[in-house]
Amino acid sequence: MTISSIVAFSDNHVIGIDNDLPWHLPNDLKFFKRTTSDHTIIMGRKTYESIGRPLPNRENIVITRNEDYKAEGVTCFNSIEAAIEYCTKEKKDEIFFIGGAQIYSKCIHLSNKLYITRVHTTIENGTAFFPELDWENWELTSAEKQTKDEKNAFDHTFETYLRSE
Ligand SMILES: NC(=O)c1ccc[n+]([C@@H]2O[C@H](COP(=O)([O-])OP(=O)(O)OC[C@H]3O[C@@H](n4cnc5c(N)ncnc54)[C@H](OP(=O)(O)O)[C@@H]3O)[C@@H](O)[C@H]2O)c1
Repeated sequence: MTISSIVAFSDNHVIGIDNDLPWHLPNDLKFFKRTTSDHTIIMGRKTYESIGRPLPNRENIVITRNEDYKAEGVTCFNSIEAAIEYCTKEKKDEIFFIGGAQIYSKCIHLSNKLYITRVHTTIENGTAFFPELDWENWELTSAEKQTKDEKNAFDHTFETYLRSE
């Protein structure tokens, strides 16, 4: 099973402001949809509540310590390990950790593939950050530069990495 993490972060590693995304980048949302559709996405409870609904055409898994947490159209687990065990048993081909900061900080070391959108700007008032990685352990396998336009406020680059160690 490929265990992937998918994230968009700024030059200073900001991923969120006040439980929302720092930007509106429709091009990145399309990339996210294209990449994760027909797969399983795993997210922290705060990211789920920020999105506000299960994302269609994907199995949605929410991680929470609250054993009574329920939301329609999502499967809940009380630990990351329990979610991975379930996906392994279900013989998923690729699963995606989709954030937020707490989940990335615990799941990057479990991942063997990263989809990173580098958003080429500095966000001054960020409240959620992508963790520092040991980049020596990761091999860049593709990079696709996207130029800002009337709908997308910032230049951004879609990068894919595979774990090299
Ligand atoms: N730019 C991007 O690509 C991107 C992607 C996703 C999210 N975001 C942003 O990230 C921010 C949210 O990140 P966040 O760090 O505040 O929250 P989060 O990681 O989405 O969710 C945190 C919650 O997940 C649960 N949790 C975390 N670790 C757990 C564990 N080991 N076992 C069981 N449950 C666990 C807890 O839920 P309970 O409190 O219910 O126990 C915790 O409060 C938002 O601003 C969002 O917009 C950005």
